[in-house]
Formats: sequence, structure tokens, C-alpha cells
Amino acid sequence: MDISVANGNVAEHRTDALIVNLFQGVTSPGGATGAVDHSLGGLISHLISEGEIKGKAGELTLIHTPDTAYRNFGPSRVLIAGLGEAGVFDLASIRALSAEVVRRLERSGVRRAATILHGAGVAGLEPTACAEAIAEGAVLGGYRFDKYKTTSNEDADPRLQKLEIVEGDVAKIGAIKTGIRRGVTFAGAACLARDMVNEPANMFPPSRMAAVATDVASNGGMKIKVFEKDEVQAMGMGAYLGVAAGSAQPLKFIHITYDGDPANADNHIWFLGKGVTFDSGGISIKPADGMGDMKGDMGGGAAVIGAMQAIASFKPKINVHAVVAATENMPGGAAQRPGDVVRAMNGRYIEVENTDAEGRLTLADAICYAKSKGANRIVDVATLTGAARIALGNGNAAAFSNDDMLMEQLLAAARKRGEHFWRLPLDPVSKRQNHSKVADMKNTGGRPAGSITGAHFIGEFAGNTPWVHLDIAALNLVDSARGVNVPGATGVSTRTLVQLAMDLAG
Ligand code: BES
Ligand code: ZN
Ligand code: MN
Repeated sequence: MDISVANGNVAEHRTDALIVNLFQGVTSPGGATGAVDHSLGGLISHLISEGEIKGKAGELTLIHTPDTAYRNFGPSRVLIAGLGEAGVFDLASIRALSAEVVRRLERSGVRRAATILHGAGVAGLEPTACAEAIAEGAVLGGYRFDKYKTTSNEDADPRLQKLEIVEGDVAKIGAIKTGIRRGVTFAGAACLARDMVNEPANMFPPSRMAAVATDVASNGGMKIKVFEKDEVQAMGMGAYLGVAAGSAQPLKFIHITYDGDPANADNHIWFLGKGVTFDSGGISIKPADGMGDMKGDMGGGAAVIGAMQAIASFKPKINVHAVVAATENMPGGAAQRPGDVVRAMNGRYIEVENTDAEGRLTLADAICYAKSKGANRIVDVATLTGAARIALGNGNAAAFSNDDMLMEQLLAAARKRGEHFWRLPLDPVSKRQNHSKVADMKNTGGRPAGSITGAHFIGEFAGNTPWVHLDIAALNLVDSARGVNVPGATGVSTRTLVQLAMDLAG
């Protein structure tokens, strides 16, 4: 989708569909919507008075404006988008609305549309931020993963090809352009993550994940190192190696480096992502129902790689590292067994009580590696536990931290991007559940507080290093379209990580 800005009068603009808006409770629209209403002889006000249009959040009303009836009116259709109540309206509303609008227009076969700058009217938001939210929402909401549908075509499945933001005030054009570029970059990073998560596991083994990471690094002028199994063995990553042992696909340990502040070697942040390209459970095999979703068990790794693409483009003044210990978790003949004891890179022994608690094993060694390279701030992102959904449902991903400041910075970044995380405690009572009779710890803590014990396990390796753990298991995939999400991968956390890097850079 091409998103651009056009300077001119909306009512005269030639396009297939013009998008205007309305707050809930407004009976006579002002601003750009009012101008369009006027050009249409009061048609919009009429539909409001008839109760057809209420301005509720997400309400979309499509009207046709044929040349015969409206001679001097440019657009052939007008879509009136409800903004909801003014008191709760924000950038997240604009993103969600823009996403819904794109899907609505595509259902009607509209290929070219123009929109007014939502939020810049009575809501008084900055033009740059409004344009950014429109672009970000449009790209995210119009995302599709259809590369394996060879028979789909433009006629059966039309795409919106062009979206223009029409602005009458020439002084705002530059700001709008900047916003569009930012929104497209943020959304593009999340869509790259979505692509990886949506890929089936046979098409996307660890070697493919490493190949995508290599492309992202070279396109963004970043360094990358992909460690092979022998190097991982030499570094002593026994926990990660144990997970990879049952798979015929070679593991790939991926490390991308963005040098945004080379003069300040201590100014860095490390993003670690769980990269299990398929989680069968291993010998502690999962039930067949829903196992296919485990092709998405590299959602955390996809988020950190996707984030690097946007970071390379924005160039914040901070050094950013992305690490993904990519592997499958399979029950092959060489697979690790329940009861096995493995040795992590830091020398700690772990009893593998359940081979399906594999994400924390891979992350344990990823954290050891990051710390061995001097990491002083770590954020890990992982589809770690089904228990995260039991605790929080589908509205929030779980967040954990040993550092209030880093946690606050992350939550603030997430709020700016409209992503939802909820902090859960790392209480000492739950921590005891990871106690092992035979090793330093075991990799499962039983049913109660399953997300907390998973976080505690990883936290053992983070130690005193400021660290945030995001358990995105509940939000990685959705089954219906809503707001910026479409069925399949969400790319959750990607935009938050990008925002965090920008915020930390100041
Ligand atoms: N990848 C899963 C967690 C998961 C579940 C992600 C559902 C997305 C949707 C993880 O590796 C896992 O299997 N966790 C176990 C942990 C248990 C064995 C302690 C779980 O959640 O049951
Ligand atoms: Zn897993
Ligand atoms: Mn598992």
C-alpha cells in the first residue's frame, strides 16, 4: 500500500473513497467533515439526525456520491468513520480506526482512498502523530499473509493500493510526511515479525530465521553473527543444546548488533527473543489439538529481529543488540528426556523435568551469553507459558522485572504504541516451586503461577542485571480481525521494543 500526502480541498479531491470522521454525540459536524457535509447538501447531518450515524468508535458508514447527484463533488464514495467519545479518544483509537477502514474499503473493492487527518481537528493532536497513527494502523490492518494461496487474485481479493492524507493547510504537509514515514516503519517491523510467525515450520526452520536476520542486518548496515552448533558447544550452552538435540534441523544462534552510539560503549540495550521455530513439546509431547499453532513459538525472536529493522532505519543514539537462540523442539531419537540434567553456560545445572518447558532453557543460555558480552539492560520476549493466558486472558501480555525503572520505561513505550502489558510479581514464595532435588533448579514449577515460575527461572540467569521478561504467549496469535490485528500473527512487542530503544536514546 502506497501512503502519501496531498495538499488540497477534500471535497474536490478525486478518489474512489474519501474518509471523514465524527465524534459520538456531534449533531452538526465541523472541520473537514463539515465541509464535506456542506458539499453534499447536508447529507451527513441528515443521516445523523435519522440515527443512521452515531459516531460510535469503529462505526463505519459508506455512502455513494454519484456524479449525477453531486456534480461538483470529487470522491465517488464517502466513508464516515466514528471516533467514539471525545474523552477517551487517542492515538490508539486512530490506529485501530485506520486498520478497520482499510479492511472495510477492501471488502467493497476500493483501490484508492483519501482520508482527512483524524485527530488533528477538535481533538487537537499533533499532525505528525496523527499521520503516523493513520499510516501505522493502515499497514497493520491491511496486512495479509497469502504467499501460499497461488489462486488468489486482485479481482477476488482486492487490496487498497493507495491511501492519501488530504490536507488543506500547506504548512502541515511536512509534518504529515514525517508521520507517514514513521508509521510505515513501525508497522513494517511488526509485519516482518508477523511474516516469520505465520510461516509454517517446514518452510521456516532456524536456518531460515537466521537468513531473515542476515537480510535485516545487511539492509540496515548492522553487524550479525550466526553461531553454529559447534560454536554453541564451545561456549557451553548445554541448556540450549539440550532443547535442540531432538531436531534434525540445525540450530542457529543469532546475534545482530546495531551501533547507534559507538562513542559510548556502555549505552546499550539487549533484546532477547525466544526462537523455537516449532514446539512439539519434545518427549513431553503436546496433545495434537492446536499443536500447529506452535509454528509461532518463535514470536519473541521474530519481534526482536523485526524491531532491528525499524531501529536501523530510525538510527537512535544507543547501541542495540538482538539475540535469538533459534531451534526446534522435537522428540527425535537424540532428544533430551524428562529427568535429564543439563549445564547452562554459567555453570548452573538444570533438571529437565518437562521437555516442553524449553523456551526458558534456550533463554537461560541467551542471557548468559548477553551477560558475558557485558549486557547491562536486558529485555527478553517469549511465547513462554500457556498460563499467561490463564492469568490475564487475551487483553494483556505478562511482564516481569527485577528493575522498576526499566519496567516503567518499557510500559511507557508500550502505552505509546497501544500494546498492552501487565506486570506480575516475582514473589519469593512462587520461586521455591523451581527447587530441584538433584540439580540447582528444575525447569518447571507445577501448575500454580505457571508464568511466574517461568519468569523466575529466567530471572535466575539475569541475576542483578536490570531485566524485563515479556511473556507474549496469549497475544502472539489471534483468530479474528480486530483493530490493528488480523487473523494469525500479531507481531506483538515489536513496536514496543522499537519505541523503547528510541525512548532510551532520548
Ligand atoms: N510454547 C509453549 C507456551 C505456549 C502455549 C505458547 C500456548 C503459546 C500458546 C511453551 O514452550 C510451553 O510448552 N510451556 C508449557 C510450560 C509447562 C510445561 C511448564 C505450558 O505452558 O504448558
Ligand atoms: Zn514453547
Ligand atoms: Mn513448550
